[in-house]
Amino acid sequence: MEKIRIFGDPNLKLRGRIRISGAKNAALPALAASLLTREKMRLRNVPLVTDVFTMLTLLKDLGAEYNIRKNSLSVQVKTINSPEASYKLVRAMRASILVLGPLLARYGKAVVALPGGCAIGSRPTDLHIGGFEKLGATIVLEHGYIRAEAKQLTGTTIAFEKKTVGGTENLAMAAALAKGESILKNCAVEPEVSELCKLLVKMGARIDGIGEETMRIQGVPELGGASHQIIPDRIEAGTFLIAGALASDEIVLTHVRPDNIMTLIDKMRSSGVEIEKINNNTLRVKGCPDLKPQDITTSSFPGFPTDMQAQFTVLMTQADGTSIITETIFDRRFSHINELLRLGASIEVSGDKAIVRGKSPLSGAETTATDLRASASLVLAGLIASGETIINDAYHLDRGYEKIEEKLNALGAHIERFRE
Ligand code: UD1
Repeated sequence: MEKIRIFGDPNLKLRGRIRISGAKNAALPALAASLLTREKMRLRNVPLVTDVFTMLTLLKDLGAEYNIRKNSLSVQVKTINSPEASYKLVRAMRASILVLGPLLARYGKAVVALPGGCAIGSRPTDLHIGGFEKLGATIVLEHGYIRAEAKQLTGTTIAFEKKTVGGTENLAMAAALAKGESILKNCAVEPEVSELCKLLVKMGARIDGIGEETMRIQGVPELGGASHQIIPDRIEAGTFLIAGALASDEIVLTHVRPDNIMTLIDKMRSSGVEIEKINNNTLRVKGCPDLKPQDITTSSFPGFPTDMQAQFTVLMTQADGTSIITETIFDRRFSHINELLRLGASIEVSGDKAIVRGKSPLSGAETTATDLRASASLVLAGLIASGETIINDAYHLDRGYEKIEEKLNALGAHIERFRE
């Protein structure tokens, strides 16, 4: 098993420039969209993280051929060999469910394993399934698989009971090839959803209302190939902003879209952190020794992102006073707290709230990563803890961060990877 060792320093002063990678959560749906056409898709700025490779393995199983050169990727699905996404792949990455809509729309059939639970709570698929049924698919759940069939999907109105990023993406892809008009209401408006829709339009889809809660999609009989640049990863950018606030003279983040992380930036500024927008895709953050406590409540975009909750919690362990972190998106997303307690943080969990009492000096310890963003929070805490911090199960980090230790080491951190 790969592990990470961080030689922490409470007085660490990171310094330098860091280029933010492409967004994993934009790359995954863009890859799934390649199933909608027999023509070639070209994607640039693709982050080379494990989740992207898991999606490529899945697409290959389904019939895709692909080519990667640095962060550019071409993928083509001339014919679909098999419409089945196995439990092994879906369990490794829940976003595998994004192949369901495209398979159903182009091939008329999809068999996708039910994802089951995961470290951050129950993650149902009812909103995806209900939507496909409304488009006319017949769906049977048996032996742990979703079996969906439809000769021809037919446009209809789908009002999501709850905002769902993956559900909106899956249904938008299916509706793009359905017969007639679909109206999707209460859509998630995360930037990654809008990006997928812009890509679909490049492929020939007809979508009105991109970036709004109601989208109208006129189905077309066929989609073609397209070329697309993946947007910067707002969660990686947010993670580096917090590293900068905790442990830097100053660091500069390039290739970011500040507009996509304004809620986080506003909260960090209220906490006393100096963040300067140098231009439309560059930010400068300065270390802040006198952080003020802040309460946050996670919610869908443009609210505070659940994917930044664990990292923000670490920042608040260094604020002078009590902060209340409320998690409303996932029901068990506090697994990092027990690990942070091992490093000396003072945090109490009560239902959907974590009460963080700062400022706590942190001291290095052996910890275990439980999910992607939890592991990022341990890296941040390890940077400013005195002594050595070990993170077991480092593979969680590699699911979504491209070369994180290389990037932090280039700024002056001391992190190494080893096997045991
Ligand atoms: C996506 C992101 C993930 C992020 C999450 C919330 C990707 C690949 N992943 O995940 O990083 O944390 O959005 O911003 O883009 N729900 C249902 N029924 C469903 C589907 C979802 O009840 O059929 C619930 C979920 O349990 C959760 C909420 O809806 O409570 C939001 O989930 P959703 O937006 O679907 O998350 P994902 O698309 O899985």
